[in-house]
Amino acid sequence: MGRIIHIGSDHGGFELKSELSAALNRKGYSVDDLGTFSEDSVDYPEYGAKVARAVLKDGDFGIVICGTGIGISIAANRFKGIRAALCHCSEYAKLAREHNDANILALGGRFIDFQTALEITDVFLKTDFLGGRHKRRVDLLDNI
Ligand code: RB5
Repeated sequence: MGRIIHIGSDHGGFELKSELSAALNRKGYSVDDLGTFSEDSVDYPEYGAKVARAVLKDGDFGIVICGTGIGISIAANRFKGIRAALCHCSEYAKLAREHNDANILALGGRFIDFQTALEITDVFLKTDFLGGRHKRRVDLLDNI
């Protein structure tokens, strides 16, 4: 498969990040775990920024997780070229890829279980951007 997934979380997403990283490794993805590495309290903007920078550098996908997924997605979306989408179900993940060409998946570690997170992640990683009229809109995002 060969694709690198940059992943990061705060303490609120640490448990889900650990489970998801292991599952993605088993599926053959190379997982670049950017922390945090324990349940000690940390600040989500730092980890959203780490993942955003890695995605911009390598052009791969990222996954960010905090308690709700909100704070860390806001942090990642501060970077031009990042389209982080907070998804609660696989339908959102499909549309985030097809319509928004999302390059970072954001998850709420305190609100979804591992199995749901894995399904969302599978769909996100396997769905292609549709382009066409959606490309024009995505291009506009970088010119705001
Ligand atoms: C941390 O307690 C919590 O605020 C954080 O994980 C996240 O939910 C913020 O959006």
